[in-house]
Order: sequence, then structure tokens, then C-alpha cells
Amino acid sequence: MTDLNSLEVQALKEIQSTCEVDALESLRVQYLGKKGVLTEKLKELGKLPKEQRREAGQKINLIKASVQQALEEKKIKLVESAIAEKLKCEALDITLPGRGQSLGSLHPITHTLARIEEYFRRHGFVVEEGPEIEDEFHNFEALNIPDHHPARAMHDTFYFDDKLLLRTHTSSVQIHVMQEQKPPIRIIAPGRVYRCDSDPTHSPMFHQVEGLLVDEQVSFVDLKGIIIEFLQTFFEDENLKIRFRPSYFPFTEPSAEIDIAMANSNSKNTKWLEVMGCGMVHPAVFEKVGVDTNKYSGYAFGLGVERLAMLRYQVNDLRLFFENDLRFLQQFA
Ligand code: DAH
Repeated sequence: MTDLNSLEVQALKEIQSTCEVDALESLRVQYLGKKGVLTEKLKELGKLPKEQRREAGQKINLIKASVQQALEEKKIKLVESAIAEKLKCEALDITLPGRGQSLGSLHPITHTLARIEEYFRRHGFVVEEGPEIEDEFHNFEALNIPDHHPARAMHDTFYFDDKLLLRTHTSSVQIHVMQEQKPPIRIIAPGRVYRCDSDPTHSPMFHQVEGLLVDEQVSFVDLKGIIIEFLQTFFEDENLKIRFRPSYFPFTEPSAEIDIAMANSNSKNTKWLEVMGCGMVHPAVFEKVGVDTNKYSGYAFGLGVERLAMLRYQVNDLRLFFENDLRFLQQFA
């Protein structure tokens, strides 16, 4: 009996001093398992004199019950404190300010295109699109740039094969539109164009906006009027100095390149920057698409979107627009 008493004291002490659920389980096996100490004691009952068996058996069962209970209570304590511990270190500090979400923004080229489109829409121009993969007829031939013409070499064209190419300018859309629509026509054609060229002011892909107006009695005055007002609106400067400099394009006659005066150049020696090309549609172009040159005349213009964006935002390397560097793009947010 004294043996059993000290066994109980020993077991309860061990259970109390355990700090882990695993160790607790080992103790359970050690005392109550199939080969556990108390189980063995029960098996040994038979060896006792008959008159002691009953009392010893009851005592062992009582000890078993108390060990069992001590194990269960301890287990609950351990699990609870483990949860409490976990909650303590996983606690959320809901007073911390959130990480927030930064607002995206339009790409400066998209923004520039939208400004240009908005201006011309307001003046009754319809936005048209043409294919980026073109044939020689639309990109060159119909624009009065025959096979042998030196302008072809100037275009640094990407060819797929003898017939197909990536359009080198949006002027090809003029041809598509005049093949499909009868005058009066008043369109702009914004889009991507491609040339085999790359340096700080040239990228193999860039954007142009083409303009075409065909109607009765259209003159160079109409062209000048709308271009001057467009550039003054675009650069938000109603005193912007603009000049039309005689030039040459195969598909317009007469042709001009348009320059704007640099912001801080003085009137004595003004510095001019070229921003676009324009002219009156060449009769040879009208003939290719079947527009009656006795009845109709028209003007056309073409501008480089990156060029206008560079001037407006004072960006000195065109390639920055295509590198997708957030440090650059975020400045336009
Ligand atoms: N297509 C010309 C180019 O890419 C730009 C241009 C000039 C378009 C004069 C026109 C124009 O419509 O009239 O260089």
C-alpha cells in the first residue's frame, strides 16, 4: 500500500511539472498504457494473498482514475496556454495605418493621343483606324510614291515579303478611307507606325495621327486655320508662334512642314522646332482612289505623337516612353 501511495504522488508530480502535450502523452503511456505501471500492478494482483486483493484492486483503480483526471486537466491547461501564446504573438494591431493603394494613371502617349483626338472630334473629325500590316499599294503606291521613288528608301520599311509590310505612316489610312467613303470626308487616323530606326529621337514603333479633309472648295487657308488653332490649344499657348515652311511630300502639293517657336527663344533669332507635315492632297492620289478632282479638293496632315509629347512634357529621350520605368511614368499621374 505504501508503494501504491508513493506511486500516485510520483505520477501526479510528474504530470504537474510537464510543459508539453507530447511529454504528457508519454506519461499517459507510462502509467496507463497496456504495459503501463498501473496496468502491471493490476496484473500482479493475483500474486497477493486473497484477503488483500480486493483492497489493493480498489486502491489501484482509484489511483488510475486520479492519474487519468490529472492528465486530462493538465492537457486542457497546456492547450489553452498554447492558444493564448499563439494569440499573443499573432495579434493584429488594427491601429496601424493601411498600406494603401496607389492609383494607376494613363500612359503619357495615351494621354497625348486623347488630347489630340478630343480637339479634332470637337471640330467634326471622325476617328478612323487602318491595318498596321499593309500592302505596298496603300502605304506607297496610292500615295504617289512609286517603286523607284527615293522616298521609299527614306522610310526604312520593315517588310514581311515582297508585298506585305508594317505601315511606315498613318497616311495609308487616307487611302482606305477614300476607297470606302465618298466626300465630304473629315477624318483623323491615330495609330502605331513602324520604321527600322532607333536612337534618342527615333523608336522602331511610334505613333502618328493623320488628318484628312476632302470637300468642295477646300483651300490651304482652311488647313492653316485649323492647324494653328490646334497647336495653340495643344500647347495651351494662344501666342504660340507657328510657321509653315515649304516642303515636299509626294502625296501633297503644295506641302509644308510646320514649326513652332521654342519657348524662350527671342524674336531676333527664333529657334524653330518641326512638329508636323501637311499639304493639299495631290491630284495623283485622288485619281488612284477615284475622287473627282474637278469637284473636290482636300488637305492632309500628319503628326508624330511622341514628338508632341516630348515637347509638351520636356522629355529629351523618346525611348523613355517605351521602357515602362515606373519612376518615369509616375510623373505623369
Ligand atoms: N506621312 C508623313 C510621314 O510619315 C507625314 C505627313 C506629311 C502626312 C504630310 C501627311 C502630310 O498627311 O500631308 O513623314
